[in-house]
Amino acid sequence: MGSRKHRRVILERAIVGKPTPEDFRIVEGVLPETGEGQILFRILHASVDPGVRSRLSGGDSYSAALKPNETIDGFSIGEVIESRHERWQVGDRAALAAGWCDHYLSDGKGYLQRITDARPPLTAWIGVLGVPGLTAWFGLHRVAEAKEGETLLVTSAAGPVGATAGQIAKQHGLKVIGIAGGAEKCAWLESVGFDATIDRHATPDLAAAIRAAAPKGVDVLFDNVGNAMVDLALPLMRPRGRIVVSGQVADYSTPPDQRVGLKNTDRFITHRLRMEGLVVFDDIRAFPEAQRQMADWIVAGALKLKEERFKGIESMPHAFSDLFESNAAFGRRIVDL
Ligand SMILES: NC(=O)c1ccc[n+]([C@@H]2O[C@H](COP(=O)([O-])OP(=O)(O)OC[C@H]3O[C@@H](n4cnc5c(N)ncnc54)[C@H](OP(=O)(O)O)[C@@H]3O)[C@@H](O)[C@H]2O)c1
Repeated sequence: MGSRKHRRVILERAIVGKPTPEDFRIVEGVLPETGEGQILFRILHASVDPGVRSRLSGGDSYSAALKPNETIDGFSIGEVIESRHERWQVGDRAALAAGWCDHYLSDGKGYLQRITDARPPLTAWIGVLGVPGLTAWFGLHRVAEAKEGETLLVTSAAGPVGATAGQIAKQHGLKVIGIAGGAEKCAWLESVGFDATIDRHATPDLAAAIRAAAPKGVDVLFDNVGNAMVDLALPLMRPRGRIVVSGQVADYSTPPDQRVGLKNTDRFITHRLRMEGLVVFDDIRAFPEAQRQMADWIVAGALKLKEERFKGIESMPHAFSDLFESNAAFGRRIVDL
């Protein structure tokens, strides 16, 4: 095993503005021997996640800035090819936080979840049943306490978080409106049950379009985009409305002093609004219950996955950088290794 080569992706330089593939470098190394208590995974599929952007400019976010030579974060599906850990056997499969690499030596700690339910597609465990889907689940259930009959507005609705949030909400009897970039994305969202969609590229007055789709206002805003969307939606919120701050994909590449600010905050007072963020791992103990329910929905055809597939570790920098371009990504980006 000592001569087995592996590859991983590191940061070439701290990123200024939008990421580009040249900000990353692929490095090759030799895997150490699998030690006592360790598990060696071959990575079958890996994901690229926009939230990782916040670690790539040298400053700390909700997790610390990436250090030189550290592997870029990401979630993967791995298969055990060697084990000196009593709970893991060769052939076992898991969802794990391996980062952008083709092999991963684990000590059995950290985010490492054995895949025991073979009914959903394997890659769902890093998509709808992984961090994006769980963000949607806990954002809607625990943070927003969304209820039947309410109206939900989702931004970046065709992304893996947004599309899952909207579909979960439909299961609970909410009216769901999604904002996405492009007619194709909007058509897909309507095909999976969204009541109304707004193409942000083709709609000059987004506020008017939201008002037309939700004449009585919005009870829950599930925001994946950032301050511009929140400020736009604030005047449209209903009394006791809740804003879930899931992500800020439009703001990650912009220094804080250059971001859009919130101006319509008087609505918090007049309409008793609440705005709350989440880090999905705060709810880690409740993951299995959420995953059971969502796996049942996938199998029943009530929760649909949308994926874009890439091939090889070389494609990861490009697959990631594109997430911050308009109209580029459509669905969970999965890299087959
Ligand atoms: N809080 C947590 O624990 C947690 C966990 C996981 C993910 N997240 C966050 O959840 C959010 C969604 O994640 P995701 O994986 O589903 O990614 P995603 O929404 O698919 O993100 C990429 C999409 O964002 C949209 N976008 C990019 N730039 C934009 C801009 N300037 N304005 C408006 N939209 C823009 C584009 O879609 P359109 O072209 O369709 O607009 C793009 O395809 C991210 O912000 C992520 O960081 C949070």
